Amino acid sequence: MKQELAVRNLIASDDAAAFFNAWAIDEERHTDGFIRILELVADGSEPDLRARLETRSHDFGPVFEHLKDEFSLMVMIAFDEMCTCRAYAAEKPFYDALGNNTFHHWLREVIADEAVHSMNAVNLIRARYHDRISQVGKIIDNLIRAATTLRYSGTFVLDYFGEVYSKELLAESRLAVMRNIAKPVIG
Ligand SMILES: [Fe+2]
Repeated sequence: MKQELAVRNLIASDDAAAFFNAWAIDEERHTDGFIRILELVADGSEPDLRARLETRSHDFGPVFEHLKDEFSLMVMIAFDEMCTCRAYAAEKPFYDALGNNTFHHWLREVIADEAVHSMNAVNLIRARYHDRISQVGKIIDNLIRAATTLRYSGTFVLDYFGEVYSKELLAESRLAVMRNIAKPVIG
């Protein structure tokens, strides 16, 4: 919640406020789902799951210095959601191995939600910050550099599924966001 409030100071437009309301509801649902699944898998042997998951999901603290305004915030969200979308996709085999179709379908829903979040952020950037699109690549590069540095310094130890966030995944996510942003605006 603290982070949420800090994030809200960066929100300048009604469009972004609407985006964040919808986004927060989805992410809350995802967190609840992950906790339920992990409790089942871990058989109650992980008492601080919620605390660990909350640290994992969108720990923007370390990258706050890169967030100057609504535009840079939306770039980070577009990128972060693309990363999580791909990271969850990489975890499909794990969820399938749980042997319950509900997990499989639930994960698919989460992946689709993350893709929508990224696209919504991309569309907001295209609609409101068209003149700043040339800055997107550099912002994402800075985020990747910050994330890499943090991981090397061990700050990401609480990152529950950290190992799927590979260099390749970050690079592919960057490319995907850049491609989506570059698409011609329709309508
Ligand atoms: Fe997300």
